Amino acid sequence: MPDESLSITDNRTGKQYELAVSDGTIRAIELRQIKASEDDFGLMAYDPSFLNTASCRSTITYIDGDKGILRYRGYPIEQLVGEHSHLEVAYLLLYGELPNEAEFRQWSDDIRKHIELPPAVLQLIRSFPPGGFPMAMLATAVASLSNFYPEGRSVLDPQVRLLQIHRLLAQVTALSAQVFRRLQGLPPTQPARGLSYAGTFLQMAFDQVPEPVVEKAMDALLILHADHEQNCSTSAMRGVGSSQCDPYLTTAAAIGALSGPLHGGANEAVIRMLEGIGSKDRVPGHVQRVKEGELRLMGFGHRIYKNYDPRAKIIKQLAHEVFEVTGSDPLLDVALELERIALQDDYFISRKLYPNVDFYSGLIYQALGFPPSMSTVLFALARTAGWLTQWEELARDREQKIARPRQIYEGPPVRDVPVRKSSPVAPS
Ligand code: CMC
Repeated sequence: MPDESLSITDNRTGKQYELAVSDGTIRAIELRQIKASEDDFGLMAYDPSFLNTASCRSTITYIDGDKGILRYRGYPIEQLVGEHSHLEVAYLLLYGELPNEAEFRQWSDDIRKHIELPPAVLQLIRSFPPGGFPMAMLATAVASLSNFYPEGRSVLDPQVRLLQIHRLLAQVTALSAQVFRRLQGLPPTQPARGLSYAGTFLQMAFDQVPEPVVEKAMDALLILHADHEQNCSTSAMRGVGSSQCDPYLTTAAAIGALSGPLHGGANEAVIRMLEGIGSKDRVPGHVQRVKEGELRLMGFGHRIYKNYDPRAKIIKQLAHEVFEVTGSDPLLDVALELERIALQDDYFISRKLYPNVDFYSGLIYQALGFPPSMSTVLFALARTAGWLTQWEELARDREQKIARPRQIYEGPPVRDVPVRKSSPVAPS
């Protein structure tokens, strides 16, 4: 038996089992040996919404939710923001180390050369109604790339995977910018040379080279959203990718997962909520409605963080810096008041509900010139680095198979289809 183990007595049979414990975890498949009878299928773990299930081993991102810690490859997020660019962080995520100068030049070139979108994809984006759902536009456009790069389906080839990673990292900037321009009813733009990743995106979105302060804020937001271990969209990425689906369709699935208001869509929902509240004096009434269960406080709470989300701390500070340059937004005062009141209230204290990454980010995006509906697209732009890294890690993990959870069947037992009294009438 290994050093650490768990003894289980099955009170149905009186049998005893020893399960190995490693990394504070038992292997759920080992439960299968525990059977009530010979023809029993074996014990399963029931875990709706994966509250307590580790689906993989990962070396990418570390979170301590109780202490409010987030690290990429061991580096505290606070040290990466401001010191390094998003593209360097994307390299760090993928390769495990920050790039040296030569590595960074090569990495930037490898990505930059894929930034041109197929003209038909630009046409596709232009075919969407300007009032459409930007996350659906992005997901459709990303999925459509599968038609242009069929070699992407050779997901077992590491060189092919790397090429698709370069291409997706480049094209998601162009796609996000062109989705923004479609929302504004503006024609597509061309990328300029010599700008950073964030700068290239902003230049394509606004058709002008961004102010350094705007580029810096955008870059920080990209880093803060780059990865967050096994969240809903990353689990979608891994789940869909586990079928050996190509990275374009897989990333489109992750974008769909991110769009929901309980996940990335919360950043837009926060702005809508703050607009709905309208002024500081109406905050207590809103909080009361939340406490009565009528609404959720958007941008608050997290499955893992039971402390202040470290990303929200940095973003709050960033919001103050950006507003100093762009001029204040009255919604920031509403947000600050909402946070102040919620953090003193026993409802939120007892449930350990703190502001999360989405609470202040939408306000900054607005200050940078984006409408609220673009907020989640900007989240997706940033998270693409994390999704692709997790997808690559999945592809290299020999323990991984197709994701296929089980269920507890609660439907009717076998029964006979009733015999019809007359033959069916064909529809006219
Ligand atoms: N407002 C009010 N009550 C809340 C909130 C909230 N935002 N979040 C959780 N609760 C309450 C919930 O009602 C429950 O109370 P009770 O025990 O009395 O039933 C308790 O807190 C635990 O909630 P839960 O739903 O079991 O928690 P969860 O881990 O399943 O959900 C969450 C996490 C993020 C979906 C949730 O906190 C939420 O809906 N927050 C608002 C949406 C949001 O901001 N999402 C962004 C998440 S962070 C970034 C990202 O993932 O993209």
